[in-house]
Parts: sequence; structure tokens; C-alpha cells
Amino acid sequence: MPENFMKNKILVTGGAGYLGSHTCIALHEAGYDIAVYDNLSNSSREAINRVSTLIGQKIEFIEGDIRDAELLRQVFASHEFFGVIHFAGLKAVGESVVKPLLYYNNNVGGTIILLEVMAEYDVKSLVFSSSATVYGDPDTLPIDESSKRFCTNPYGQSKLAIEYILEDLAKADNSWNLIALRYFNPIGAHSSGQIGEDPNGIPNNLMPYISQVAVGKLEKLSIFGNDYPTVDGTGVRDFIHVTDLAQGHVAALDYLEQQISSNKINISKKKSVGFLPINLGTGGGTSVLELVNAFTEVTGRDISYQFTDRRLGDIASCYADIDKAKFLLGWKAKLSIHDMCQDSWRWQILNPNGYD
Ligand code: NAD
Ligand code: WQD
Repeated sequence: MPENFMKNKILVTGGAGYLGSHTCIALHEAGYDIAVYDNLSNSSREAINRVSTLIGQKIEFIEGDIRDAELLRQVFASHEFFGVIHFAGLKAVGESVVKPLLYYNNNVGGTIILLEVMAEYDVKSLVFSSSATVYGDPDTLPIDESSKRFCTNPYGQSKLAIEYILEDLAKADNSWNLIALRYFNPIGAHSSGQIGEDPNGIPNNLMPYISQVAVGKLEKLSIFGNDYPTVDGTGVRDFIHVTDLAQGHVAALDYLEQQISSNKINISKKKSVGFLPINLGTGGGTSVLELVNAFTEVTGRDISYQFTDRRLGDIASCYADIDKAKFLLGWKAKLSIHDMCQDSWRWQILNPNGYD
């Protein structure tokens, strides 16, 4: 753990959401002191209550919008943050196509305001939730961080725009330490079954859809395409357990702390982290059919499915080159596809209506 000359209080924007709530637990277990800032636009206070119960301590929670500069100033003025983990954002690809201004305003506009307030209070370390979506349809697999970036939908463009902003900021001012974690496909839930993914309405993503078919809430899974050039014709993704992903954030913060403290000690070597994109995936691909079969194997529930047309904008295959995370952060995903199915299922049966 960092020694007492380091600050280790972390602001977690979007910390009430799916990935944020799991990361709060991992941060607490690693000894970080956290405050969550979330407008609850896609999450519930109940998630915060449950995280508090799981860690045996009340989480400091501020209900607020990252576009509210005044409230952010009050929060930064009353805390001494080491840095920010920035999950807050809207994430539904389809909705972003219908409401592009909302997505640019919330995700890009909100991030700019957050960065401005951070600069005012001289908090210059940020871990940002980026996405494998910035790679679009990759030329080669596995995808490494130097692959070309290209997006076609406003959600993806908002992530890419934020990456460009972070890059420019690091170029303009070398005191910033900015890590963009590019998540592949996070699934699963906390092993307690108390927190998990709680989508609004009919899920867009594969694992919550499978779980809701398994529990009888939905009748049948539509598998979007069985004519891709993959192992069985269905899409291939790099599914990663949300608990592993949460640990990746702890590793990223630890890395920032180490870099900053070694630069403070060795002035001659003074160099900030700048802008550092890092993939968080397992490094392996699993097809849609393989995931469905693994789910049945683990849970004993048959998933009824039909093949339908490909979904617009989908790609055939996507999985990460994970060397950078391994070498720089010393982090590697540990949990298997079976763990992901088991934990998603536990969350689903214990909470058939999510947090409601
Ligand atoms: P989520 O919707 O569960 O969590 C996002 C949280 O941000 C929610 O609690 C929401 O209320 C909050 N929020 C949104 N706009 C806000 C604003 N203006 N001010 C304050 N709070 C706001 O989503 P998640 O799955 O936990 O994703 C977290 C982040 O990771 C998002 O930025 C998302 O784009 C990114 N990401 C997610 C995935 C994924 O598959 N889940 C993959 C890649 C990247
Ligand atoms: C996975 C596979 C589908 C649902 C999305 C976002 C991406 C990132 C992660 C935030 C694909 C197939 C799905 C269904 C299906 N999020 N599928 N039937 O599209 O890889 O990534 O979430 O950054 O930006 O686009 O994830 O879970 O939707 O799909 O056959 O009902 O499952 O075609 O092959 P995706 P997904």
C-alpha cells in the first residue's frame, strides 16, 4: 500500500453502476478510500446500499451529475483526492444513434467539465472507462493498443472523442497521468449474488439476455447471425468477468501511484504517465453459441434460441492482446467462462427484477 506521503482517496464517478459498484468493492479491499459520485440516471441507490453491506462500511455517496461543475467543485474542495476513476457515462449503442446530442453532451461534455474541475484542484490522475468499441472492425486479431481506431456510432465516437481529448491534454501539460482502460465484454457478477448488471427493459447485451431466458422472463434468445467466419458461424467476443475487470482498475491506480511516487523521489527522471491506453480483456475469444452452451452446462438450464439476421454494426470477432496490461500493470484476468456464467446466474436467480 502507498505510504502516508501519498494521497489515496479516490473519486469514483458512475460508481453506482454495473462496473463501478464491483470496482468500489475491489478498491476498498485494496485499501483505497472512496467516494462515489453518480446521478443515478442508470443505476439505483440500492446498489450503493448493497456495496456498503458487502464491505461492512457505509460508502460515501454524492448524488450529482458530472456536468454540474459547481457541485463537483464543492466535492473537490472538501476532499483531498489522489485521483478519479471515471465510469460515468451513457452506454447504449442503439439509443446513442437516436439521441446523439444526449450522448455527446453527457459523455464528452461531462468529461470536459470533470477534467476542468480536476485541473482547478490540481488532481491530475484519471482512469477512464474506454471500450474496445474504439477499434471498430479490427484488421488483425488479437487487437493491440496501437491498432487503428474507428467508430461508426455516437456512443463509440463519444469514447473516441474523450480519448483524443485525454491525449491532447497529456501533450499540452505533462503533469497529467491519464489511463484509458479499453474494456472488452464485461459479464458476470459479484460472487455474493448481491450486485450485478441491472439493464432497463429488454437487454441489448448477450449475457443478461441469456440469463433472462434461463429464468423464464424472456422466451427465446435471437442469435444475430450464424454465417460469420468464426468457429461455428456466430460472433466471437472476449468476455471478461466483472471482478477481474474491477481488479484491473486497482492495478491501474497502483501503477499510477508507483509512477508518481518514483518520479517525485527521482526528480531527474521527472516524467508523468501522460496518456496510456490499456486493453482489459482475457486475450481469448468465445463464440455466442459457446457461451450459450457453457451457460447450460453450468446452470442446467436449456436456453431456447433461434438464428436471425446479423445485427447492424456487429463485427465477426474481437479479442484483446493483453500484453500491455500484463507487463505494465502486472494484471491478468483469472476467472473462466464458467465462473462468468455461474455468477451471472446467481445474480439473476437471487434478483429476478434486478435492484427493484
Ligand atoms: P452503467 O450504466 O451501469 O454505469 C454508468 C453509471 O454512470 C450509472 O450509474 C449512471 O447513473 C452514471 N452516470 C451516467 N451519466 C452520468 C452523469 N452525467 N453524471 C453522473 N453519473 C452519470 O454502465 P457500466 O456498464 O457500469 O459502464 C461504466 C462505464 O464503462 C461507462 O462509461 C461505459 O461506457 C463503459 N464501458 C462499459 C462496457 C460494458 O459492457 N458494460 C464496455 C466498455 C465500456
Ligand atoms: C455480443 C455478441 C452479438 C445479443 C457491446 C457494445 C460495446 C461494449 C460492450 C460498451 C455479438 C451477439 C447479442 C443478443 C446475440 N459496450 N448477441 N443476441 O455488441 O460485442 O458489445 O457491449 O462499450 O460497445 O457494442 O456485446 O453483448 O451486445 O453482443 O446474438 O440478443 O452476442 O451479435 O456477437 P457487443 P453484446
